[in-house]
Amino acid sequence: MRIDVVTIFPDYLKVLDLSLIGRAADRGRLDLHVHDLRDHAHDRHRTVDDTPLGGGAGMVMKPDVWGEALDDVLAVDAPTGGRRVLIIPTPSGEVFTQRTAEDLAGADSLVFACGRYEGIDARVPDHYASRGVEVRELSIGDYVLNGGEVAAVVMIEAIARLLPGVLGNPESLLEESHSAAGLLEYPVHTRPTRWRDLEIDPVLLSGDHTRIARTRRDQAIARTVGRRPDMIARMDAADLDREDRAALATMGWAVPAGAPHPVPVRIRPATVHDAEALADLAARTFPDACGHVIDPEFIAQHIATNLVPGLFRTWVDDDRVDLVVAERLAPQSASQASSGTETAQTPIVPDLVGYAAVLREEPDAAGEPPTGIDPRPACVQARPGQVVGELSKVYVDSTMRGSGLAPALMSVVTQRAIDHGVSLLWLGTHITNKRAQKAYRRAGFRQVGTRTYNVGGQDAHDVVMIRRTGEGL
Ligand code: ADE
Repeated sequence: MRIDVVTIFPDYLKVLDLSLIGRAADRGRLDLHVHDLRDHAHDRHRTVDDTPLGGGAGMVMKPDVWGEALDDVLAVDAPTGGRRVLIIPTPSGEVFTQRTAEDLAGADSLVFACGRYEGIDARVPDHYASRGVEVRELSIGDYVLNGGEVAAVVMIEAIARLLPGVLGNPESLLEESHSAAGLLEYPVHTRPTRWRDLEIDPVLLSGDHTRIARTRRDQAIARTVGRRPDMIARMDAADLDREDRAALATMGWAVPAGAPHPVPVRIRPATVHDAEALADLAARTFPDACGHVIDPEFIAQHIATNLVPGLFRTWVDDDRVDLVVAERLAPQSASQASSGTETAQTPIVPDLVGYAAVLREEPDAAGEPPTGIDPRPACVQARPGQVVGELSKVYVDSTMRGSGLAPALMSVVTQRAIDHGVSLLWLGTHITNKRAQKAYRRAGFRQVGTRTYNVGGQDAHDVVMIRRTGEGL
């Protein structure tokens, strides 16, 4: 690749003689030429700038001087049939990204026109564009430098390291931040394994490459969620597997069915203000859990009598019930969701897309168990003194199937139950609902028997599953 840089400070570009880029030039992979713009200024002071027409602060670089310089460079160095791009670094340009670097690395020749002061007369890019030259006005970020030279050095380094034969180990291009994966790179470590009391995740020393890859991917996701939620919002849903989705959902992002990108969600304890929305959500999701074998009338009856706002209000007020909800947030709350800060934008009617509840088997002062708790089936055997909880519900709106929200809700509600002393969890789920059973198995539950469950007057058959939470999650 041939690179020409036109500047009034040729010495600025000397840094390119150092390091990998300098070596690439030495080895002929890069043909770098730096030109002094003042060679094209013909007055006694070699003037390159003038005051802005129409008034205003600062100075503007003269089109006639730039025109002569660029005519020279573009004429002399025209590659035969190759792609040549005239790049004008400017804070008012499009943002230069890794995608831009990848695109420009495919060109045969790049010409950088480095402006100073208030910039180059705007007719210069227009003129060359109208002559068929590919012109790109590019900014390296939302801040203002004193001139385009440092920006040109940044772009040249980012582009040149993508050229074949420039990097010693081309594999390092595959996993780095801003690669096509759309995630920041995971944190990296080297020996010693323990440094100033800081240890690394033992998985990295396990030699188990599948687990290492998973750990690193989760770390990359966590880092990107925390630092660059804008990148998460742009991720291609097709690139996210089930484990990615589960990890994202615990970090405030879920992928709705058929959606192109993750959307911000928040998993939080329910409040009394959620009661109506919870009843709506329950009415939407309960029929799906009944396996299409229960008469719709009985289902409707069950919803109308049991899954009512009053039930959810009772649960919120009962400290033997852990009730958590997943709320879909407006897109602008994405960074707030990931930083966990409370937001003033909480909608009046929360957009609830999932909930989960654990009911602890403990009598209250009047000797009553929590409202809505089911009798513990005989196949659920508790040890003496063990606190038993019923995982009563994990329901996710059909738009959020496969989004990772169900395992995330399950893990949050389970953790809260464990924090409240529960060491044996049980649940019943309809015998035909294989999808739910699989999800519960993934979350550490195993089947111990069956039960008969009354839905609106009709008997339904459930499998009963348990998880001993003391056994390591
Ligand atoms: N010139 C001055 N500031 C710049 C920026 N942020 N990017 C590119 N060129 C510049």
